[in-house]
Amino acid sequence: MKVRWGVIGAGGIARRRTIPEVLRFAEKSAIIALMDVDREALSAAAAAFGIPRVHLTVEELLREDIDAVYIASPVAFHYTQTKQALEAGKHVLCEKPLALRVEEAEELLELAEKNNLKFGVAFMMRYNVYHERIKEFIDEGKLGQPVFARAQLTCFYPPIPGAWRQTKATGGGGALTDMGCHCVDLLEWFFGEIREVFGFLDTITHAYEVEDTSTVLLKFRNGAQGFVDNFFNVPDEAARNVLEVYGTKGAIVAQHTIGQDPGGEVWCLFLEEEKGYDALQKRVSSSWQKLELEPKPLYAREVDAMSAWILGGEKPRIGAEAGLRNMKVLAAIYRSAAEKRAVAV
Ligand SMILES: NC(=O)c1ccc[n+]([C@@H]2O[C@H](COP(=O)([O-])OP(=O)(O)OC[C@H]3O[C@@H](n4cnc5c(N)ncnc54)[C@H](O)[C@@H]3O)[C@@H](O)[C@H]2O)c1
Repeated sequence: MKVRWGVIGAGGIARRRTIPEVLRFAEKSAIIALMDVDREALSAAAAAFGIPRVHLTVEELLREDIDAVYIASPVAFHYTQTKQALEAGKHVLCEKPLALRVEEAEELLELAEKNNLKFGVAFMMRYNVYHERIKEFIDEGKLGQPVFARAQLTCFYPPIPGAWRQTKATGGGGALTDMGCHCVDLLEWFFGEIREVFGFLDTITHAYEVEDTSTVLLKFRNGAQGFVDNFFNVPDEAARNVLEVYGTKGAIVAQHTIGQDPGGEVWCLFLEEEKGYDALQKRVSSSWQKLELEPKPLYAREVDAMSAWILGGEKPRIGAEAGLRNMKVLAAIYRSAAEKRAVAV
């Protein structure tokens, strides 16, 4: 049995990644109807994927015989559309961020709970096989005591007339909101909750309102430190989207695992014991090993995990609480940047 999904906002990431992956790889999910306000985008997606049931309004889509909706519209619509779907008795997987404001996301979680509906956030990077293995390594203690982590996600995003990501009212924020959210989510998944943040957010290159330049220092509850860096002004080819995790017994260093593609390259160094002091401070080690895993489709896996939950299985690792938590951390970072001081989450 498959969960019947409708898609809200069929022309962007849904068209590029989520719909094709679900159609090709998902085992528990079927996409049977699409909605978009742009007639051309809607027809193009319908034709590309052979999904004939299409609508220009959310109300019409919700009258379809669907169990759940995947919301991939611009951020400013997430709150209202999620609310509409939950009120119509549909389960929801919403793209990040869940809403523009923390209070709105809180209200949505309460509504899902009250209506006994499943509600998730689309942090699909948690379904990268390398990230899953890194999480296992950390939990197994392979790194010893976790002490530091860095996550980078960066692209080149120049001013585009009408782009919803480039104003606060429609996108919520810039590089941090759009890309940093994934980095923060991954690092909290690996190390546990962040306790304190210090953000440097600026717009130094592009003529738009939101930040194109973002570096955030983090302090985790377990004592470890970290940072996430997100830029809209570094060429795509130059950004290796680095992920680094260090502990008292080793390190994991990755590139290109953070992002929309399912693969990446990962190297690990794990020592049996914490080292004694070595005055020579030898850096080169033959103990580094490349980790080789078979990539799996991120978007199909995130939707299937929601479907499994809807069908009575276990709750996926990206329930909407992760989306709310993420918004609280980001709100603290924006406050920190505005007040030029470290802020507790
Ligand atoms: N997880 C990821 O990999 C990933 C990647 C990109 C975007 N996103 C998220 O997906 C969402 C959409 O981003 P995008 O890059 O696809 O944007 P986009 O602008 O490329 O596409 C959005 C689509 O929504 C449609 N749309 C506009 N207003 C709408 C409305 N009121 N109701 C329904 N549809 C509407 C547009 O016509 C367009 O087809 C955002 O929340 C973004 O953060 C996630």
